[in-house]
Amino acid sequence: MGTLNIGPDIKLGLDEAIGQCAAILGIRGSGKSNTAGVIFEELLAARYPLSIIDTDGEYFGLKEKYEVLVVGEGENVDIELDAESAAGVAEVSLREGIPVVVDVSGMLSDDRDAFVLAYLARLWAVAGKLRKPYMIGIEECHEFIPQGVRSPLKDTVARIALRGRKRGLGTVIISQRSAKVEKDVLTQAGMMFLHRVVHEADMRVYSEILPWRKAEVKEEVAALATGSCIFFTSQTVRKVSVRLRETFHGGFTPAFRPVETPKLRQVRGEILAAIQQARADACPTHVAGHVEADQPRSDVAFREAWLRNRMGSAGTPPPVDDRENAEPVDAGAHESWGEEDDNVVPHWVRRDNDTEEALETFPDEILRQRARLIRRLDRRPVHEKRLLAFLASREPRAYTTTELAAWIDCAEAALVSEPPSELVEMGLLHRERLSRGTTYRIRLRPYVTEAFEPFFSELGNDGLHRLVGDLRQALTELG
Ligand SMILES: Nc1ncnc2c1ncn2[C@@H]1O[C@H](COP(=O)(O)OP(=O)(O)OP(=O)(O)O)[C@@H](O)[C@H]1O
Ligand SMILES: [Mg+2]
Repeated sequence: MGTLNIGPDIKLGLDEAIGQCAAILGIRGSGKSNTAGVIFEELLAARYPLSIIDTDGEYFGLKEKYEVLVVGEGENVDIELDAESAAGVAEVSLREGIPVVVDVSGMLSDDRDAFVLAYLARLWAVAGKLRKPYMIGIEECHEFIPQGVRSPLKDTVARIALRGRKRGLGTVIISQRSAKVEKDVLTQAGMMFLHRVVHEADMRVYSEILPWRKAEVKEEVAALATGSCIFFTSQTVRKVSVRLRETFHGGFTPAFRPVETPKLRQVRGEILAAIQQARADACPTHVAGHVEADQPRSDVAFREAWLRNRMGSAGTPPPVDDRENAEPVDAGAHESWGEEDDNVVPHWVRRDNDTEEALETFPDEILRQRARLIRRLDRRPVHEKRLLAFLASREPRAYTTTELAAWIDCAEAALVSEPPSELVEMGLLHRERLSRGTTYRIRLRPYVTEAFEPFFSELGNDGLHRLVGDLRQALTELG
C-alpha cells in the first residue's frame, strides 16, 4: 500500500484512507482547502477514485496534473450538468473509477442541494453493490449537514460519513463553521485536521474533541499558522504542517490552462454516455433536435473522443485513412469494406467535388428518382436523419446503438424503442444483433445498385459510382 505525503511531518498509509471519515476544520484562510487539496492530490497520485463536492469552484486546478473531470455549473466545468444527469455521472465515476470534481459554485441553493442529493444518493446505492474504495470530499459541509436540522440531503451525507466504511466510501468533510456541523458526524470522524479557529463556539467544539485542557486547546489552536493544524486520530494528537498544493488552487491565475490529455477526453466520453443514459432514463422520448440548448460544452469533441475510444483497438484510435488498421469489425461489417472497395482513398476523408457537375449529365428519370428518394428520407424523424447523415459521412462499418446515440445526441432508449426499421426495410441500412448490442451500418452502394437497377445500362459503372457519391453527400446534409 502506498503512502500519502501530506506534509514534512505527516505521512499516512493509503489503507488508512479506505472508508475513513476525515474532518478538516478552521476559520477562513486557515488552510483547509489547501489541506483537502493535498489529500486529494495524494489520493489521485495513488489512483484512488474520488468525487469532490466543490462549492467554490476551487478544485478544477487538480487537472493540471491529474485525470479529473469537472462537471456541474461553474466557470471551469468541462461538462455542464443539471440534477437530472447527476446520478448517472456519479454511477459512472464509481463504477469506472473516474475522479470527478462536482462544481456546484454556479448553482442556486435549491438546485445545488437537489444535485448533490441525487449525486450522493446514487454513490451510496451503487457502493452497496460494488464495495470499492472511493473517497468523497465535501466543501462547506455545514451547509449539507447543519447541526439540528434534518433533510434528505443531510441524512444522505450523514449516512455516508457514518456508515460508508462497509461500502468502501470514505469522506473528507471541510468546514469553516465547526460549531454548525452536525455533532454526530463530527464526533465520528476518525481523523481530524484542526486548523486555527478564534470564535468561542468553535473553540468549544475543539475542546470537546481534543484530549487537552481547555486553556491548552485555546493556546495551541490560536497560535496555529496558516497551513499548520492539530492532527488528531485515536492514536495521535500533534501539531503538523501541511505542504502546499502542487496543483493550482482557486481561480485567479489568468495564464492557467489545464493540460488536455487523451485519457481525460476519453473519460469525458464515458461521462457523456452516462448523461445520455441519465436523460434517457428521465425522459425516454428525448431525441435529437430537442437538445441543442442543453448540450454539454464542446459536445462534439466529446463525442468524437468517445467514438475514437470505442473504435480503437486497445484504446488506440484507428488511422482514419487506413482501413487495414481499423477496428476489428464483426463479420457483417466486413461486407461493408467490400461494397466500398473501389475507392483508393476512403470516402470519409475524400473531397467529393466531382459529383455535382456529374449529376447534370444524368437522364431526367434518374434525377426524378433521386429527388423522390431524398424527399422520402427528408420526411423521416430527426433522429433517423441524423443517423443516416452520420453513417453516410463516417468510416463504413457497423456502429452499435450506444455509439450512434452518443454521436447523434439521441437517447439510446429512443433508438431502441423507435428503431430506423423503415430504412432497414428499404435496404439502406443493415441491422445486425450482436453480443455487443444491435448494430447498424450503411449499405449505400448495394442500395443504389438495386434501386437504380433499371437505369444501370445508362449509368454504367462510372455513373453508378458518381450517383453513390452524390447520394452520400445528400444524406450527409440531411443531418
Ligand atoms: N500549507 C500551506 N502552506 C503555505 N501556505 C498555505 C498553506 N495552506 C494555505 N496556504 C495559503 O493560505 C491561503 C488560504 O488557504 P485556503 O484557501 O486553503 O484556506 P481556507 O481555510 O480553505 O479558506 P476559506 O475558508 O476561505 O475557503 C492559500 O491561498 C495559501 O496561499
Ligand atoms: Mg477553502
